[in-house]
Amino acid sequence: MTKEKRYEELLPQVAALVDPAQQTVSVLANVCAALHQAFDWFWTGFYVVGDDRKLHLGPFQGTPACYTIPYGRGVCGTAWQRGETVVVPDVEAFPGHIACSSLSRSEIVVPLRDAGGRVRAVLDIDSTELATFDDTDRQWLERIAATVAAAIY
Ligand code: SME
Repeated sequence: MTKEKRYEELLPQVAALVDPAQQTVSVLANVCAALHQAFDWFWTGFYVVGDDRKLHLGPFQGTPACYTIPYGRGVCGTAWQRGETVVVPDVEAFPGHIACSSLSRSEIVVPLRDAGGRVRAVLDIDSTELATFDDTDRQWLERIAATVAAAIY
């Protein structure tokens, strides 16, 4: 199955999971489980913006990860600072990349915004292969992130 087809099937599943009546943490947990099941990624999860200007580890699937990431640091903090998706084909070539696992080779981070446009969380996905994520992933994951954010923020 092509990844486009996989994303096409995934989007309605995610839309069905994002129930505004549920706790934010529960929705994020189910969405990351659905994403992680659909693809062969190494790590799939959310970091949530805290009151202390740091990202805090949220629901995820994969190996244990760093608890906090400062604003503007690493790929996640950079995506938060820029307010846009960051695609990293080779993590070793990204200055300031935070290595939670030495197995991670490429990464994509997609911000989740509230209705006012403020970044409230980021979706972080890691792969053990180089250059796993491209514009197709960016487009679909931005749609998924927007669907989730619209329901919970
Ligand atoms: N590599 C990320 C840190 C989080 S882990 O990948 C789960 C970064 O540089 O922000």
